[in-house]
Amino acid sequence: MKIDGIAYRSVWLADDGWSVHILDQTKLPWAVDMLRLTTRDEATHAIKSMQTRGAPLIGAVAAYGLCLALRADASSEAMERDAALLNATRPTAVNLAWALNRMLTRLRNTPAKERVAAAYAEAALIADEDAAQNEAIGHHGLRLIEDAVRPGRPVNVLTHCNAGWLATVDWGTALAPIYTAFNAGIDIHVWVDETRPRNQGAALTAWELGKHGVPHTVIADNAGGHFMQHGMVDLVIVGADRVSRIGDAANKIGTYLKALAARDNNVPFWVAMPSTTIDWTLTDGVRDIPIEERSAAEVTDMTGRLADGTIATMRVVSADSSAANPAFDVTPARLVTGLITERGRCSASEAGLLGLFPERR
Ligand code: MRU
Repeated sequence: MKIDGIAYRSVWLADDGWSVHILDQTKLPWAVDMLRLTTRDEATHAIKSMQTRGAPLIGAVAAYGLCLALRADASSEAMERDAALLNATRPTAVNLAWALNRMLTRLRNTPAKERVAAAYAEAALIADEDAAQNEAIGHHGLRLIEDAVRPGRPVNVLTHCNAGWLATVDWGTALAPIYTAFNAGIDIHVWVDETRPRNQGAALTAWELGKHGVPHTVIADNAGGHFMQHGMVDLVIVGADRVSRIGDAANKIGTYLKALAARDNNVPFWVAMPSTTIDWTLTDGVRDIPIEERSAAEVTDMTGRLADGTIATMRVVSADSSAANPAFDVTPARLVTGLITERGRCSASEAGLLGLFPERR
């Protein structure tokens, strides 16, 4: 996707052919800063600190992180250790483990002296496939938006967190149908949940929609139910960090509340994700998907830009109060209207998923 007319991906190889560029997402929307990752530790730090984030993207960055690790030591012992270190950076998005397992499967039987080249080739495939899968999600989701078109008013889509191109290698998941519809000339408007505590909606989704010219409005997280009650939301599309084999969907904290409000107001609630986000080993997602606990400081403090342009972080909670910060919640399949994948749409159920992915039977 484009920033001011120039096409970017969220991760790419530098001109030297080996170091890895990412956009520093902790600096957006105030600055477009590119980071150059050169070591395993820089890659693990980037994922842990959320300089790079979003389920499919952390998988691709971890794959490149393993390439950087192999440049330092391509022995089997080091490779297994470094993959485990990268995998331990964040617990909820299954794309991380998926990408690293795919790398290890490719590399375990490769002689150590050929591993670096093979690793870069596999990481590039992972990145290219993610971009292609998300583009396909855009086409499969387009129909939902087309069906919501009414004369004289835009189609209003509500989304939570950032499931746009910044969260993937390209296109995004939840935002892919929105970009596809916008590019096709459909009159569309997006309600963007701010997504406390880290504000991925306000800081990232609004920024990337704006850069593409898509009309949008940032709303407080608590406003979505109100807009649904008043007929101002035609459909909700969110991304996911891990989907169980029966269609339970973990996504950024607050997603579940949007699903409840959508059900009460008969608003369709769709989850868009590539198959790399499906954890076929888990059935009961509410019980079994691990939920990342992040620092209380993300709740007690907020960062913003002051009138003079300086970026400042300030405490918004009284000094003697503590805070809890679960980063994700799980929306049970019964509240999900359907799933949008690279192979098409299906019900949020085991039968629905297996219909699209029969090889998982
Ligand atoms: O903690 P984050 O910002 O990595 O969480 C990201 C989300 O919850 C996204 O909505 C999700 O990864 C879907 S991504 C395409």
